[in-house]
Amino acid sequence: MLTLMLSSAIIVAVLRIDAATYDCDHKKADQCSLNLMPITNSEIIRRPPKTIAQFNVYCGKIRRYERCTRKFAENCLQKESKQTLSILMYGISRVNKRYCTKEARKKALIDLIQCSGPINFRYYGDLLRNASADLHAIREYPDAKLRIPMACCLYSQYTTQTLEHVEKTCPKYRQEVDSIIRGYSGDSFNFLCGDYADESDKCDPIIEKTPKWDGAVKWKSMIIPMVQVIDSLH
Ligand SMILES: *[C@@H]1O[C@H](CO)[C@@H](O)[C@H](O)[C@H]1NC(C)=O
Repeated sequence: MLTLMLSSAIIVAVLRIDAATYDCDHKKADQCSLNLMPITNSEIIRRPPKTIAQFNVYCGKIRRYERCTRKFAENCLQKESKQTLSILMYGISRVNKRYCTKEARKKALIDLIQCSGPINFRYYGDLLRNASADLHAIREYPDAKLRIPMACCLYSQYTTQTLEHVEKTCPKYRQEVDSIIRGYSGDSFNFLCGDYADESDKCDPIIEKTPKWDGAVKWKSMIIPMVQVIDSLH
């Protein structure tokens, strides 16, 4: 009994210290969110996996990246943001699980990564960084009710651009990439975006209004800026 009390006390103490010393290092959190997707994962970019064993190294680290991203939201963002982040991360986790459980899927993703190569990786990385910069600006768009539609329309636009690029560079994998992107955005996208989910005529006038972001791009990953866009409405 005493041991139990003692160990609980120690656990509580450790948790306290952990919370008190959590440094809200946004660069670290940004890297964790980037690492959650193969296309922006630093190790995959540095050394694209050729074998299942090499790809398994990525799979083995997913939980760590998720925990690190969540921890930042818990300690350093507004209260609602933790929940918003969970919803947004759900789709990403599901895609990772899909590709990390079946050998055939791992093989498909490895082939796609090998087909893309460094130049295309850079292109997709730039595209995501640009999308993230747009979200930085959208967080502060004066007409608050347009912020979500704006983010939705941009997401559709960037998705189209990505698929067009895949079509040009690795056409064999268009379907695969389409399903990955759909998986990432998942149900939250349909729920959030409704009428703006497809690149409809409704989007053109909204996209036109998207302000340019001239400030620093604090987040290269889209995840946290997207959380901030949603939570800017509270
Ligand atoms: C990202 O934005 C810059 C500046 O607007 C632009 O020059 C570049 O082409 C964009 N990159 C991609 C991949 O669209």
